[in-house]
Amino acid sequence: MPLSTLAQATGGRFEAAQIEAGREQFHRTCSQCHGRNMVNAGTTVYDLRKFPTDQAERFHQSVVQGKGNMPSFKDALTPEQLAVLWAYVGSRGGKEN
Ligand code: HEC
Repeated sequence: MPLSTLAQATGGRFEAAQIEAGREQFHRTCSQCHGRNMVNAGTTVYDLRKFPTDQAERFHQSVVQGKGNMPSFKDALTPEQLAVLWAYVGSRGGKEN
């Protein structure tokens, strides 16, 4: 996808390189539960494709502190890794594929 299209699709909030880094990080640390490319049945594990894109604070808090059956990632992720994960999830939100 050309950069301009991507910027449009994400409201210009994220750099393509950040989203790409987030995608890689996601597949290292999150996809075993949340599914490849965030695709899962959405029954027991939260469907991240539906995560509201205007709730960065909530994203950080849930990932850092853990929630329900999700462990805390406080010691596992650097602030940079958290930021690119949010770029990936926050740029994808609401889209089904
Ligand atoms: C061990 C399985 C597991 C792993 C690994 C995991 N999650 Fe989760 N995640 C869950 C479950 C289960 C929930 C639903 C929690 C609930 O609401 O009870 C969840 C919920 C979430 C939510 C929604 C929280 C909210 O505010 O409602 C976010 C955002 C999230 N995960 C992000 C991530 C990210 C980013 C990673 C990788 C760093 C990750 N998760 C790794 C199991 C996991």
